[in-house]
Amino acid sequence: MRLRKPSGFPFQRPFFWSMFLFCGMLFVQIGLAQQATKMVINADLGKDKISRHIYGHFAEHLGRCIYEGIWVGEDSPIPNTRGIRNDVVAALKALQIPNLRWPGGCFADTYHWMDGIGPREERPTIINVHWGGVTENNHFGTHEFLDLCEQLGTAPLICGNVGSGTVRELAEWVEYVNFPGKSPMADLRRANGREEPWNVKFWGIGNENWGCGGQMRPEKYADDYRQFASYVRSYGDQEIYKIASGPNSMDYDWMEVMMREASSGWRRPRMDGIDLHYYTRTRSFNMRRMGDLRIVERSGENLSRSATEFGEEEWFVTLQQAMRIEELIVNHSAIMDKYDPEKRIGLLVGEWGTWHSVEPGTNPGFLYQQNALRDALVAGVSLNIFNSHCDRVHMANIAQTVNVLQAMVLTDGEKMLLTPTYHVFEMFKVHQDATLLPLDLDCPDYTYGEEKIPSVNVSASKDAAGKVHITLCNLDPKKSAKVSCDLRGFSGKSVTGRVLTASDMNAHNTFDKPEVVKPAAFKDAKLKGGELSATLPAKSVVLLTLE
Ligand code: AHR
Repeated sequence: MRLRKPSGFPFQRPFFWSMFLFCGMLFVQIGLAQQATKMVINADLGKDKISRHIYGHFAEHLGRCIYEGIWVGEDSPIPNTRGIRNDVVAALKALQIPNLRWPGGCFADTYHWMDGIGPREERPTIINVHWGGVTENNHFGTHEFLDLCEQLGTAPLICGNVGSGTVRELAEWVEYVNFPGKSPMADLRRANGREEPWNVKFWGIGNENWGCGGQMRPEKYADDYRQFASYVRSYGDQEIYKIASGPNSMDYDWMEVMMREASSGWRRPRMDGIDLHYYTRTRSFNMRRMGDLRIVERSGENLSRSATEFGEEEWFVTLQQAMRIEELIVNHSAIMDKYDPEKRIGLLVGEWGTWHSVEPGTNPGFLYQQNALRDALVAGVSLNIFNSHCDRVHMANIAQTVNVLQAMVLTDGEKMLLTPTYHVFEMFKVHQDATLLPLDLDCPDYTYGEEKIPSVNVSASKDAAGKVHITLCNLDPKKSAKVSCDLRGFSGKSVTGRVLTASDMNAHNTFDKPEVVKPAAFKDAKLKGGELSATLPAKSVVLLTLE
């Protein structure tokens, strides 16, 4: 029998090609599906409360944050209540903002509060030297800010002027705002239309006094803190929570000196919190070790820092930088532990968030930037880290609320949009004042070039009603993450979820398309016999609620 001659080499046959394609697709699928992430959540071992103040905000006299973003004036065609725009208040109220820090920032150490009281048309103008050199008309002052806080139902945090102010000026501000009886400042308040004191609890004693707040050495500021704080007094029943200006990211010397010289002790004014500032910028950093502390050196040129035009390299570096906040918290906490082992004093992250290039064509001094899905991931990762260290992190304030840096809302005249970051704060509000649940996480790395970071980031809490909330971020922009979780000590039966993601990593909301990035129902989670499983889409933030 004559065998038929093969019609050619194997790759000339259709069967070979179908198999080749099939296997190829299988490999791609396997490659794109992450190896499993495993978690154990100890639902019965929680002991620390996640302070709602971790979800705090910050509004400075900077660019269009206060003016236009919040204050439009009583005669504006934009709907407002006593000059404060209604749409922004309604949007922010939905976030349950626990506190709002004001008037700065760098602006705080140039601000003289008496310029901002009394009839508006008679208030003096000043130059906003740090932010664009524009004229500040002082129309938004103490009364307007505290009205805003009352409209929002939030606790005010007033940051006093140490850099260019006086001890007397700060002491009188506290008296004006908080003294219930008869006194020169309380009477002045009444003459300006406010009978009852506002009882403001949170007072900052300066801002970034190592930089724009006076370029001080820590030894100098520690002494100034002791002096200024001595005159920030409690009146009536209102206890004051005093906040010292803290270090710039990894300035561990500042923390050491402040804790040693000014934190507490006989004849020293009380310090309740110390305010660390850390911004996420798209730069490359090299890590090196120095003694027991890991420090970071800035190196390499800036990558493209646009808020919306970036590729995977900037995505990766931004998230890598955002995750560094954990290292800073751990290292600063270690210093604080030496002087305050009971963790009475809070490490506050009083300014945090992304700092990108300003939007093309806008005033560089106004720090107006767009906000993409990448910013949502930065917010999710940061909030999960703050939650996880809530024994020491007692407060945090994202910079800033409206139209500046990593904002919740952007405005354009009468138009307003909610940013991806807004949606993360809205999803994460379930953690406010809930009990942190300890957990173990074992996840694959997200690798870019030779660098890697954990691909999944998570925190979990149990609220007063016994519901468990888990917030998860999948940092990998290409691969979904299969998560399986052993829920120890929890007998709930159902799981519901919400997800924030988009098809592109630089997806963002615009005034023409304001709902490109918004939360949707998440159906890809199951709870069976104490075992939770879920598949997180690539580049997503997911909230799971178990009851
Ligand atoms: O948030 C913008 C500025 O950043 C603040 O005014 C200052 O405190 C920080 O350097």
